[in-house]
Amino acid sequence: MKALVLSGGAGTRLRPITHTSAKQLIPIANKPILFYGLEAIAAAGITDVGIIVGDTHEEIEEALGDGSRFGIKATYIRQDAPLGLAHAVKIAEDFMAGEPFLMYLGDNLIKEDLGQLVSEFESSGASSLILLAHVPNPSAFGVAELNEDGTVKRLVEKPKEPPSDLALVGVYLFDSSIFEAVKSIEPSWRNELEITDAIQYLLEHGCEVRHHVIKEWWKDTGKLEDLLEANRIVLEGIERRIEGEVCENSRVDGSVVIEKGARLVDSTVRGPAIIGRDAVISHSYVGPFTSISFGVTIENSEIEHSIVCENTVIRDVKRIEESLIGKGVQIVRSTSRPAAHRIMVGDSSRIEIL
Ligand code: G1P
Repeated sequence: MKALVLSGGAGTRLRPITHTSAKQLIPIANKPILFYGLEAIAAAGITDVGIIVGDTHEEIEEALGDGSRFGIKATYIRQDAPLGLAHAVKIAEDFMAGEPFLMYLGDNLIKEDLGQLVSEFESSGASSLILLAHVPNPSAFGVAELNEDGTVKRLVEKPKEPPSDLALVGVYLFDSSIFEAVKSIEPSWRNELEITDAIQYLLEHGCEVRHHVIKEWWKDTGKLEDLLEANRIVLEGIERRIEGEVCENSRVDGSVVIEKGARLVDSTVRGPAIIGRDAVISHSYVGPFTSISFGVTIENSEIEHSIVCENTVIRDVKRIEESLIGKGVQIVRSTSRPAAHRIMVGDSSRIEIL
């Protein structure tokens, strides 16, 4: 059993962060999203992992290296353009060399034990095992319609009128019959070869497609709200660990991680929250569901339910909530005249001013 991890794509819904960074490397509780998937794959006993990369390949390769830090062997497969998930499978055929594989979308986070799914698939003899989850907004996903006996009847990608509330989760198991399917389907309206259409092709050609409705949580982190939600869920599971310095007049309440070299001065951190290595929080409040990355400075400000990436400075800002702030950003209060907002901000950014 091998694995195929998809780390290409443009991440248009997360601009401007994705103008300069790969969406799979955005930190959730101070760890890139992609690392969670790779750790789960390694824990399932899969070591041979193909990583599909696109324009952001340098950044992804630098973050993952040869994969040994995860206990896997990473082989990079370059996708020249984001032509769809089924296209990614197509270009991985040589790498798979006839073996069955687990396909994992690098921006998905899933709690379910992948090892169990792999055994379920291997003992079933089916061509594919898909994961489904009940969601409130099925039109945003691939959707499965089931027969009365519970077997999969039909799959459709992002239907306007969804036949059920069962979304396709971004984790799939395939045997080599998927290669004929990805070579036979046509591009969709968004000009992508859809993996949903390839699995539908398997169904139409007499291949067995099993499904597993997941019981634990799952998040596709393609949008800001989903990232914040994933951050919240992961932080809810952290255990208190204080390795940094909590100076006098500071308070740390609940499940909070303060990493080495971080300093709290006259500040309160209310968990669940994480303060990264060498961050300095002074005269500030960091509230629940907040991840502060490495080297961040927060002075005389309040922040809650947010993700702040490395080396950013926030100074004299009354209150920030529900925000994703990139690397090396400066958000500061100005005292110079005329009193005005002075902004230098990237394309497709969003700023809400009080
Ligand atoms: C892709 C798939 C979709 C699936 C989703 C899961 O959507 O096309 O069927 O439900 O991943 O994350 P995309 O992220 O390309 O919009």
